Amino acid sequence: MKGIVFTEFLEMVEEFHGDELADRIIDASDLESGGSYTSVGTYDADELVTLVLKLSEETGTQVPELLKTFGEHLFGRFVEMFPRFFDDVKDAMQFIMSVEDHIHLEVRKLYPDAELPRFEYEETGPGTIQMTYRSPRRFDDFAEGLIQGCLKHFGHGVIEGREVLKDGTRFLIAA
Ligand code: HEM
Repeated sequence: MKGIVFTEFLEMVEEFHGDELADRIIDASDLESGGSYTSVGTYDADELVTLVLKLSEETGTQVPELLKTFGEHLFGRFVEMFPRFFDDVKDAMQFIMSVEDHIHLEVRKLYPDAELPRFEYEETGPGTIQMTYRSPRRFDDFAEGLIQGCLKHFGHGVIEGREVLKDGTRFLIAA
């Protein structure tokens, strides 16, 4: 997993809970990387899982909730860091439908070794879609948070349901 995800996660922890707690979860996590990440480096995705688990122990907030919060927060940071991805995008649905064939494709150009999930889309009615997330890493809650962050950014849309599959999760999204 790219370092940008780790640096953003730790910055969020510092912002919400202070530097001391961020240092504490790094110390408690016994990480192969030692917890010093650079945004362009690549690290074991399990390190993120470990850090989130430690944050959960420290804060008493459940892991799925923390991953959703992080996803939502990270989407806002992506808007700040990659403004050109938002040029000419009129609404949340248009953006969501472009993640697989445009956004993550651009991400791969920036970070050739990025480990990205796969998304499939199906329009299920006027203004409703199914977005199926598949990844061996199973960051289902993180994905939900990113979708939520996107809906929030554009100011409309809700996640109406979530169906767990063997190899991923299907989100039902209404504009
Ligand atoms: C609704 C919008 C989005 C969703 C649902 C989404 C979903 C995800 C998920 C779930 C992952 C974790 C990897 C995995 O599960 O296999 C991921 C990775 C990533 N995404 Fe997205 N994403 C979205 C938009 C974006 C945007 C706007 C950017 C940046 C411009 C972006 C950049 C990345 C990067 C850099 C990674 C890390 C890849 C790695 O660690 O190797 N994503 N995305």
